[in-house]
Amino acid sequence: MAEAHPDIESILLSEEEIKEIVARMGKEITRDYADKNPLVIAVLRGAVVFMADVMRAITCPMSVDFMAVSSYADGVKSSGVVRIVKDLDTKIEGRNVLIVEDILDSGLTLSYLMRMLQSRNPASIEIAAFVVKDIEGKKPAVEPRYVGAHVPNAFVVGYGLDYAERYRNLPYLGILKPSVYE
Ligand code: XMP
Ligand code: MG
Repeated sequence: MAEAHPDIESILLSEEEIKEIVARMGKEITRDYADKNPLVIAVLRGAVVFMADVMRAITCPMSVDFMAVSSYADGVKSSGVVRIVKDLDTKIEGRNVLIVEDILDSGLTLSYLMRMLQSRNPASIEIAAFVVKDIEGKKPAVEPRYVGAHVPNAFVVGYGLDYAERYRNLPYLGILKPSVYE
């Protein structure tokens, strides 16, 4: 395996492990949406890497669209404010919508998004989260139908996830050294 970036404390999911996770999720989604022509929505920017991979692991007809919301300004703490930066270009009424997310932490971002999309009367809305952060005694505000992996309560970067817009290009998921942001 390639050596980790010097700012990475440890690698949580290697490229190989990510490949297996994505293949498994693609199979699950294909099985459930075989005749549903889902609209797969990625939340920018973090989810683009996962989206690019998982859409190629989905083998039934589907289409894609993108949304941008911002909940974490430039740092590591939730501001609690969710702002729609870019809305969908597609009408979702009557469609089976699958939201693809990079990471589910408190779930507040997605719970807001789900409520907003629900008001447009889609046939269904589900979530596929690449990783879910495990926080003791806390349940995320939404329940993803598809989960890639669980990660510990640490700040993770890579595979689309950033700290101040950096590290998105790392091909693995790793824990960022706290010295980088402390
Ligand atoms: P909530 O708490 O609303 O947060 O589920 C989801 C969004 O917060 C960002 N986030 C992270 N980004 N490493 C990151 O790079 C992390 O460990 C992390 N935790 C939360 C992310 O943008 C996600 O969409
Ligand atoms: Mg971010």
